[in-house]
Amino acid sequence: MAIKINVLVGTMTGTAQLVAQELELTWDDGETQVETLLMDDLDASVFAREGVFLICTSTYGQGDVPDNAKKLYEDLQAKRPDLAQLRYGVFGLGDRTYAETFNFGGRRFDDLLTELGAQRIGERVQHDASSGVLPEEMASEWGADWLKLARLAAEQAA
Ligand SMILES: Cc1cc2nc3c(=O)[nH]c(=O)nc-3n(C[C@H](O)[C@H](O)[C@H](O)COP(=O)(O)O)c2cc1C
Repeated sequence: MAIKINVLVGTMTGTAQLVAQELELTWDDGETQVETLLMDDLDASVFAREGVFLICTSTYGQGDVPDNAKKLYEDLQAKRPDLAQLRYGVFGLGDRTYAETFNFGGRRFDDLLTELGAQRIGERVQHDASSGVLPEEMASEWGADWLKLARLAAEQAA
């Protein structure tokens, strides 16, 4: 079965975008169609799109979502749409040096989407910039397994 994956990118300095590009290379074939969107001008209506979603976001400030993700995050908080049909995954980027707020960007989206009725596919990933592991490498390894779970979720929803 063909599936569509919408990757929504929250980033300050482009690392999450590199991860999204890597995932697109890993996933995009005849059967899996991937569309990557920077969060910049998105609002809650983006979740009306067909397919499953991947939130790929870093963390800034004191555990905040990056600036380009704020509009989407705040719109979801304000409108609180019913997202019971939504299936999503989270690839979070952060740095354990920020021990109190490690990976809170991805966690905030995860918590909010769950509150709104959406169901996560797989575990939330937490990349650690201080670990020495390249986020793109982590993404391509993780992405192969996540795709299997996303396919199952899409088949169950069909
Ligand atoms: C000013 C600043 C604040 C940050 N705050 C946090 C934080 O609170 N928690 C965390 O886990 N990582 C934090 N980080 C780390 C970034 O999330 C991490 O380096 C990430 O890979 C950056 O991805 P990006 O280039 O896509 O924005 C911060 C980085 C900077 C430069």
